[in-house]
Amino acid sequence: MKRRYLAVLGLLVIMAMVLSACGGGAPATEAPAAPAAPAATEAAPAEAAPAEAAPTEAAPAEAAATEAVPAEAAAPAAEGVVNLTWVGPGPGAEFEMRKEQVGRWNAENPDIQVKLIEGPVSATDRFGLYLQAFQAQSSDIDIMQIDVIWPGDLAEHLLDFNEYGGAEAVAGDFPAIVQNNTVDGKLVGLPWFTDGGLLYYRSDLLEKYGFSGPPATWTELEEMSQTIQDGERAEGNQDFWGYVWQGAPYEGLTCDALEWVYSSGGGSIVSPEKVITINNDAAAGSLDRAYSWIGKISPPGVTSFKEEDSRAVWHGGNAAFMRNWPYAYGLSEGEDSAVAGKFDATALPGAEAGMSAATLGGWQVGVSKYSKNPEAAAKLALWLTSEEEQKFQALSPSSLIPTKMALYEDPDIAAERPFMPKLLPVFTSAVARPSTATAPKYNEVSNIFFSNVSDVLTGKQNGADAVANIELDLQDLLGFEVGAP
Ligand code: GLC
Repeated sequence: MKRRYLAVLGLLVIMAMVLSACGGGAPATEAPAAPAAPAATEAAPAEAAPAEAAPTEAAPAEAAATEAVPAEAAAPAAEGVVNLTWVGPGPGAEFEMRKEQVGRWNAENPDIQVKLIEGPVSATDRFGLYLQAFQAQSSDIDIMQIDVIWPGDLAEHLLDFNEYGGAEAVAGDFPAIVQNNTVDGKLVGLPWFTDGGLLYYRSDLLEKYGFSGPPATWTELEEMSQTIQDGERAEGNQDFWGYVWQGAPYEGLTCDALEWVYSSGGGSIVSPEKVITINNDAAAGSLDRAYSWIGKISPPGVTSFKEEDSRAVWHGGNAAFMRNWPYAYGLSEGEDSAVAGKFDATALPGAEAGMSAATLGGWQVGVSKYSKNPEAAAKLALWLTSEEEQKFQALSPSSLIPTKMALYEDPDIAAERPFMPKLLPVFTSAVARPSTATAPKYNEVSNIFFSNVSDVLTGKQNGADAVANIELDLQDLLGFEVGAP
């Protein structure tokens, strides 16, 4: 009993340490619940502190603390029962859905009992938490969610699912994701859900202002945003903005900025052939363009927005367009949403029509190599990623995109989530971040990229200086050649 308690406590200490080191990124990403009220649009929402802001408190660790030390965690482990700890999503709708799953699992598997705890909201903070636990070879975390960009960086700490029936389990998954999760022949993550950047738009407002469809180019997006914003403000909604997106310095900004750069012909930072390609005029211009939106068609606070901050503005009916992941679709259709029935989603714009780019996102389930119960944890991972559970999560309010190909022909998904099959081409042609080419240093690459982009968005440097600085830092870090995209 004491040992179990101490183990959970140990994990919490690690979480608190990492979160305060990371600046305690507060609730915001993945698929949390709809906010009660729209976030203030002028100022950055209070809880959306940039990752590098001085840490005041480690909010997710506190949330985790309440979650993680309930009576049953300290109860004596029953004879023959395996207890597993799962670091789940940050607070919000997805976490609630995971709780439901764990409840079902625990009821059906009395011999493997799972404790779900809230993880950090920001992917960047989450990576820091895992790394700290892995470096300590801690067995406190058994099972965790792995971002699509992490297999290469984290492979040495993860269990090989090939030893637990993984190869068979992933036979029906998108091959590219299985390949992404395979490092030196080891299957280190089971595909769970995929993601791609989407442009959400208010169909009612496009019609009201006489636009025949969503923008195909960034210039069109700017024009439509301005027209709709001017019109809505003139009608009295001073909080209305044209376009909201993710501008805080964290992994999410790498995703947004890669879309700006790639859709302008500026490449993908580092090419799959290991050439640093970021230092070019198209890339620089696309960053300057994003800077020009701030305070004009995007709220000044966007430079500290994560996914949920943008969604709060959108959800309250205060934006014409939003860049976000598919999880926002289901939540935008919710009863508490001001935009239910008034929106749709499509591919993001490009510098020219047809140059659109969606950053590839998505999550896998991984098991720590340091888990004391790898077999039980692998069993749970296989269940969580099964076709049945993927269908459950696709139909849940978080509307998570399946990685099992068969689900795209599922009649319930076709009926209740028609956007999934409709936007499948966007998800399958999404642009990968350079995580394979730069592993195991992708996380550092991304930090260099989003920090410099953030400096452009906050007026500290222009696009040309940023791409030159990114190139220099990446050369130092990676020792790769430089070249054109
Ligand atoms: C989403 C994506 C993930 C990405 C993150 C950034 O969760 O699925 O791949 O890294 O957003 O915020």
